[in-house]
Amino acid sequence: MFYFHQDALSKLNEDAPLTDKLAGVHGFVRKHMPFVARIAVALYDASTDTLKTFAHSGDGDNPLPFYEARLGDSASLREIAERGQPRVVNDIDFYGRTATHSQQIRGGGFGSSYTLPIFHNGDLLGFLFFNAYEKDAFTEASLHFFDLLGHLLALLVIDGLATPKALMATVRTVTGLAQHRDFETGAHLDRMAHYARIIAREIAPKYGLSDADVEQIFLYSPLHDIGKIAIPDDILLKAGKLTAAEFEVMKTHAVKGFEIIDDMLSNFRLDGASDSGVLRNIALYHHETMDGSGYPSGRKGADIPIEARIAGVADVFDALTSRRPYKQAWPVDEAFQFLIENADTRFDRDCVAALVKHRADVERIQTQFGEDRVG
Ligand code: C2E
Ligand code: SIN
Ligand code: SIN
Ligand code: FE
Ligand code: FE
Repeated sequence: MFYFHQDALSKLNEDAPLTDKLAGVHGFVRKHMPFVARIAVALYDASTDTLKTFAHSGDGDNPLPFYEARLGDSASLREIAERGQPRVVNDIDFYGRTATHSQQIRGGGFGSSYTLPIFHNGDLLGFLFFNAYEKDAFTEASLHFFDLLGHLLALLVIDGLATPKALMATVRTVTGLAQHRDFETGAHLDRMAHYARIIAREIAPKYGLSDADVEQIFLYSPLHDIGKIAIPDDILLKAGKLTAAEFEVMKTHAVKGFEIIDDMLSNFRLDGASDSGVLRNIALYHHETMDGSGYPSGRKGADIPIEARIAGVADVFDALTSRRPYKQAWPVDEAFQFLIENADTRFDRDCVAALVKHRADVERIQTQFGEDRVG
């Protein structure tokens, strides 16, 4: 005799986004340990020393979206990372409940927590948090269960990131090669990605973008112009204005970029991945305009995917404020003015407003990723 047992974690077999898998695991955990109110993942970016919530599952009344903090500002998380050991805090009042950003990431308003650092090949990838409203929820007896679960979730995160990371590495390599033709510097790509993230995060509630969507937009925005690889030097690097015929050739970079990305996605067998649409849309539609006068398709307004409207505004803002072979850099005020004047006709009004609202961050990014040559 045999029987089929219902696998409580069968969600993990599916090709589902990490957030869904996390929610599946959370459901399983709550059956056995109802006090676990929230499971969250924060990812670490070593180049900026920042930690951001990436995915979380918890009560609807306690969403903690988009928190971002410097690891350097959180002595407790730094210590966890340095020791490489999970830490249990059973009386969070000890830390006070004032919500600094790093406390929000760790789970502001909860009574106890279990925090596990995630490493991959020796590098800190981020942290996993289990939070409970009650104090003293994480008893000695339950800890081995959380250790096990923590490592399972860490593997899910590593697995969930591996393909996009491999893809990004390829893209960076390709983009790096493209930079030898001098059309794009690393600094331009970095600024552009950060501007796109500022916009995405600000408009996220209105457009229903999750933390993961925001991160995808950040990761994939630098690819918008990958199709310029296919544009001949005499047009790409022309010091003056393009003729109408030359501009027609230049405009093909959107479709060429889409084709290159499509090719990469199928080589990586990522065609069906949840984020592949974002990547394709950014390359293909970043020069569409709200009134339908853009290229390559002439799509209008809401028919232009939001990720492309975001990347479009970030791209033009950075193009305007950078020196190009064919133009000088504009001051921030003039660039903002241009975006505002062309809101609704060319640019998405919400995206423009989001960028203008975060001027201080924009200027910090300009300083952080300063230009040393033509961008
Ligand atoms: P890009 O340099 O990355 O510029 C991206 C977009 O920023 C442009 O898309 C345009 O919408 C905006 N932009 C850049 N510079 C200016 C400017 O001085 N004034 C205004 N009003 N907008 C600006 P667009 O026009 O579709 O151009 C796509 C790409 O074609 C540009 O990417 C650039 O590589 C090339 N390109 C466009 N115009 C010229 C030109 O006159 N000379 C040369 N050599 N290349 C050009
Ligand atoms: C930790 O530092 O282990 C987390 C404590 C907290 O959530 O504040
Ligand atoms: C970003 O989202 O990358 C920029 C946020 C900031 O630096 O303020
Ligand atoms: Fe472009
Ligand atoms: Fe660009």
